Amino acid sequence: MIKTKFKDHECGKLSLNNIDEHITLSGWVSCIRDLGGILFVELRDRSGFFQIVANPQINPEIHKVLEHVRSECYECMILVLEGAVHFMQRYHDLIESEKIESLKEVGKICMKLSKRPPETYNEKYPTGQVEMYPEKIEVLSTSKVLPFVLDDDNVSEDIRLKYRYLDLRREQMLSKLVMRHNIVQAIRNYLNNLDFLEVETPILIKTTPEGARDYLVPSRVQEGKFYALPQSPQIFKQLLMVGGIERYYQIAKCFRDEDLRADRQPEFTQIDIEMSFVEQQDVIKCVEGLIVDTFKAAGVEVKPPFIQMPWQEAMDRFGSDKPDTRFGLELFDIGDIILQSEFKIVRDTLENGGIVRGIRIPGGAKFSRKDIDDITKLAVSFGAKALANIIYNEDGTAKSPVLKFVTEEQAQAIKDRAGAENGDIIFFVADKPKLVYDIMGRLRLYFGKRLDLIDESKHNLLWVVDFPMFEWSDEEGRFMAMHHPFTSPCIEDLDKLKSGDLGNVKSIAYDIVYNGTELGGGSVRIHSSEVQSAIFKALGLTEDEAKEKFGFMVNALQYGTPPHAGLAIGLDRLVALLCRTDSIRDVIAFPKNSGAKDLMSDAPGEASLQQLRELHLKSTVQPHHKN
Ligand code: AMO
Ligand code: AMP
Repeated sequence: MIKTKFKDHECGKLSLNNIDEHITLSGWVSCIRDLGGILFVELRDRSGFFQIVANPQINPEIHKVLEHVRSECYECMILVLEGAVHFMQRYHDLIESEKIESLKEVGKICMKLSKRPPETYNEKYPTGQVEMYPEKIEVLSTSKVLPFVLDDDNVSEDIRLKYRYLDLRREQMLSKLVMRHNIVQAIRNYLNNLDFLEVETPILIKTTPEGARDYLVPSRVQEGKFYALPQSPQIFKQLLMVGGIERYYQIAKCFRDEDLRADRQPEFTQIDIEMSFVEQQDVIKCVEGLIVDTFKAAGVEVKPPFIQMPWQEAMDRFGSDKPDTRFGLELFDIGDIILQSEFKIVRDTLENGGIVRGIRIPGGAKFSRKDIDDITKLAVSFGAKALANIIYNEDGTAKSPVLKFVTEEQAQAIKDRAGAENGDIIFFVADKPKLVYDIMGRLRLYFGKRLDLIDESKHNLLWVVDFPMFEWSDEEGRFMAMHHPFTSPCIEDLDKLKSGDLGNVKSIAYDIVYNGTELGGGSVRIHSSEVQSAIFKALGLTEDEAKEKFGFMVNALQYGTPPHAGLAIGLDRLVALLCRTDSIRDVIAFPKNSGAKDLMSDAPGEASLQQLRELHLKSTVQPHHKN
């Protein structure tokens, strides 16, 4: 061992300021080039790259070691090196003109042997002005051949996930973790300055009301009983308000057993916030400041106040409660026109509580028959029974299969409503409101992308407010809470709650939306046990069920609960968007794949029979092990 110390400098931070300094560096050998017998090594640590040069004439021993390194697999071997920092060869002229005698020899040799233009170093190395001829060298760690080439774009995500620890060596992975760190620091700074208290809440709990499936943990000590993992700290943060904490936050782990997508993980992180003695506008103001600071940490400037759009308006204009307002193609309503027409099938839908919404595609009259068929198929895959279209020809006439039911005047009225011009096409769907919004909202996004209308340089933040309290679930055959059951209904709607007019009860809930993604959501909470009981009843929970599930919460509300409100932002989504990546897996150090598996550790794994026995469990699946 030549070293008592592994490093006193970082590779990526060395600069002209370090010239002639004698330093120690450790790092991974990421690349070795042989230029006319001289070896150029890229040494990499977390901070970046630094160039090491081994010249057999100057220091044959060092050259020998590095030649050996080269014959093994690099990209993974770790070296510790000692030597002085020098100008790179391309500063030879500078050295000459400045008459820096001590560096002259080095400069001359390098200049002669280097075939590459100096600029090629510049971009990759912020340290591209300096390099080292090591005097001492030692291999700290050898390595097997890497299972894949780190920078190869064709390597599958599965392989990268299996060897995540290697994938994390890539600069683009590291930079995302750095971004995440910076954002979390900005969050903590901001909230600490506002007197928020960071409090941890338990992971082994009873159940949370977020509406996804729980992850369950069997109890060994209490036979036949299970803990649930928190879907969010919702109940606990409200209990902290009862406990007088007043301003709470937590960078909280949440667990939800739901179908995964690019923006969903079974375990994810929330920036969880709760405040006492506040109303909706106070939370909104506080979170807007938080957004400004977190975006700033990512180099993006945004200016509050952000638009507050009522939920109904968002649905009507964009077919979505997370509208992407970076482009137009807004939806329009032609229900009143159709009701005057002979379009019986659609009229019947409207008369039975349905709605009809259309979208105008500028220049779409050009679409081929096949194109229109494909768009129709797409709408059907979104759940549409049919997608009607009207083409407005360049000569002002209309062409459409629906003209058998709609008069020429009605087709013109629809054109006016759509704001269509000759050469455009419009599409429309009639069905139950939820389905129509969903189909048209998705079609709108499809056309936004297809027609390249989305301005990627925009940072559109907005609040969606005035959510309905409940939404009908066909699956469950009952009303469900649109946010969660601790959300306060609007005070004006309490009568509707009592009379059972649940579809028209609004809540004091709000979501923050960024470029068409729901970043976070929250609400003013119920702080009266009577209202809370009424909501449980409306959700179809009997008194006993409510007591069994959330009795401790209702109880707590009876002991002096301050008015309170809060919100949670999905940290993974926020970081992914600010890193401009589509998948939240990219901003989580060790994520699960779409099958909720950790490909690296192979979790979930089997439990031994002994473990199952201790937990009082019997598996219905034939285990692969024998004990
Ligand atoms: P909600 O369920 O809307 O609210 O969640 C808040 C935010 O968390 C993020 N999120 C997810 N991110 C990754 N993977 C998932 N599976 C996932 N699920 C949710 C989203 C979402 O906007 N307790 C309430 C908040 C409150 O009322 O204060 C809650 O959890 O970005
Ligand atoms: P059909 O009589 O089934 O050929 O339907 C006539 C036209 O009505 C077709 O162009 C369909 O696309 C349209 N249509 C039928 N049902 C709907 C609906 N729910 N929404 C929109 N258009 C519809």
